[in-house]
Amino acid sequence: MFINPGTIRSWLYTSEFKNFASQQSIVADIERFKAHNKILGLSGFLITNGTAVMQLLEGPEEILEAVKSKILHDKRHINLKTEAWELETSRAYPDWSMRAIDAADYEALFSEIQSAKIATIATDIARLLFDVTFDP
Ligand SMILES: Cc1cc2nc3c(=O)[nH]c(=O)nc-3n(C[C@H](O)[C@H](O)[C@H](O)COP(=O)(O)O)c2cc1C
Repeated sequence: MFINPGTIRSWLYTSEFKNFASQQSIVADIERFKAHNKILGLSGFLITNGTAVMQLLEGPEEILEAVKSKILHDKRHINLKTEAWELETSRAYPDWSMRAIDAADYEALFSEIQSAKIATIATDIARLLFDVTFDP
């Protein structure tokens, strides 16, 4: 049987902001990341409660590689753990150039995340990790 490994790279990680990030500064940063992702053709989501971060990014391999290496070296967060680095045949969140959510609303985003049309290894792991990452 021929198994198509796919051409969409998908990266899921968790990390923690180094200093508790004020909602306003997160929103400003995330708006910049989102605009950058749109230009690059990356999609995904970022959830944070001000400390814990879970981000899923998906797109062409070389582009995601380059952004990944910037995020890995970004001093604004620590304890970064890659939870998935997979090739997929299609995107789970084609319409989100990076959907971001504030602390109070992340439960609502989670139900939208659960409604992802396509279940990938990364979306499955995101579901499993959600409570561990964001429960007080
Ligand atoms: C938690 C977190 C998430 C980030 N997510 C993105 C992202 O989705 N896209 C992006 O371009 N940069 C993101 N960045 C910022 C990158 O680390 C980097 O600062 C940005 O790509 C600009 O790099 P440059 O100025 O060297 O081009 C994120 C940073 C942090 C701390």
